[in-house]
Amino acid sequence: TTPLRLGIAGLGTVGVGVLKILQQHGDLLTARTGREITVSAVSARSRKKDRGVDLAAYDWEDDPVALASRDDVDVLVELMGGTDGPAKAATQAALARGKHVVTANKAMMAVHGQLLAEEAEAKGVALRFEAAVAGGIPVVKALSESLSGNQVTRIMGVMNGTCNYILSRMESAELPYAKVFKEASDLGYLEADPTLDVGGIDAGHKLALLASIAFGTQVDFDAVHLEGIDRITIEDITRAGDMGYRIKLLGVAQMSSGRGLEQRMTPCLVPRKSPLGQLRNATNMVVIDGDSCGQIVLRGAGAGEGPTASAVMSDVIDIARGLVLPVFGVPSTSLIRSTPAVASAP
Ligand code: NDP
Ligand code: HSE
Repeated sequence: TTPLRLGIAGLGTVGVGVLKILQQHGDLLTARTGREITVSAVSARSRKKDRGVDLAAYDWEDDPVALASRDDVDVLVELMGGTDGPAKAATQAALARGKHVVTANKAMMAVHGQLLAEEAEAKGVALRFEAAVAGGIPVVKALSESLSGNQVTRIMGVMNGTCNYILSRMESAELPYAKVFKEASDLGYLEADPTLDVGGIDAGHKLALLASIAFGTQVDFDAVHLEGIDRITIEDITRAGDMGYRIKLLGVAQMSSGRGLEQRMTPCLVPRKSPLGQLRNATNMVVIDGDSCGQIVLRGAGAGEGPTASAVMSDVIDIARGLVLPVFGVPSTSLIRSTPAVASAP
């Protein structure tokens, strides 16, 4: 069998993690897929940066679109980030040439997911994004594959590790928001634009993606009711604790009969002793209720080099095995436009 040849655009935290898995587990991956998985070329902004991995075996492309267009690339692995710009341009270039795409980019998928899914499905290629939601937790596959025999009734969860870290640390160390925000920044937890984290936008992107898969609706990030954690005070946390609650940035998506799809990402009170209440530091948790499966709780690392690269590789492995599924679980042309119930909610 022919090898599956990757082009990796983006060699930051996640890209380096992916290269480490490929370099350390090449034989294992071949045994599991029956195909060698190789890297033809890589791309990043700076060619000179020492990234702690050996890049000597790979061609270098300055331009991610050129990388995506190469004849010796079967799969573009997009790990640059950003809603538009080079991430979207490279993704569209790859899809237009009939190449598969694996991405960790929740911003791009939440805003352009419908368009990109239509482009991928028109070409009969895969567009996979397991790593885009809750890092190492296999929640995209859980919803679109393992639980696809269910009518999902609700998805709920903590989907931004940085916010959970800030809220947990404010409580445990009795520190004000500004001090813990600075700590999170020093630890490298925050996105380049921290508003994405603390404004609830990053978690909102993830919720919109899961809602699309769960409810068969077109991904609709604009309809997510968003509130961040930047106005939570230590007094709020203490008062909640006095009553047996913790404050979590909680995402909830559910289909209400007659009201359409409700998507909310807001600080909520959760009972201290509940699984969500016990979730500390940068961990994520997604709770799925299905009519046949009952309640499924998924918990794990929502970010970081290893966990996120693990999710990226699971998509690459599916493609090596020949699996090409609809991007959001059903063909994108069948996804319905939902009535955004939450637009008028308080
Ligand atoms: P980083 O900022 O660590 O890395 C981004 C990489 O993209 C860098 O190597 C950068 O190059 C490269 N890049 C940026 N712009 C360009 C460009 N115009 N042309 C070529 N290369 C470019 O990001 P992460 O690895 O953290 O994240 C990557 C993606 O994964 C994002 O979509 C992110 O949201 C997502 N993600 C990240 C998680 C995490 O834990 N980090 C978790 C889940 C998803 P250079 O290094 O030279 O600057
Ligand atoms: N900034 C994100 C978080 C990274 O803190 O969860 C993972 O998507």
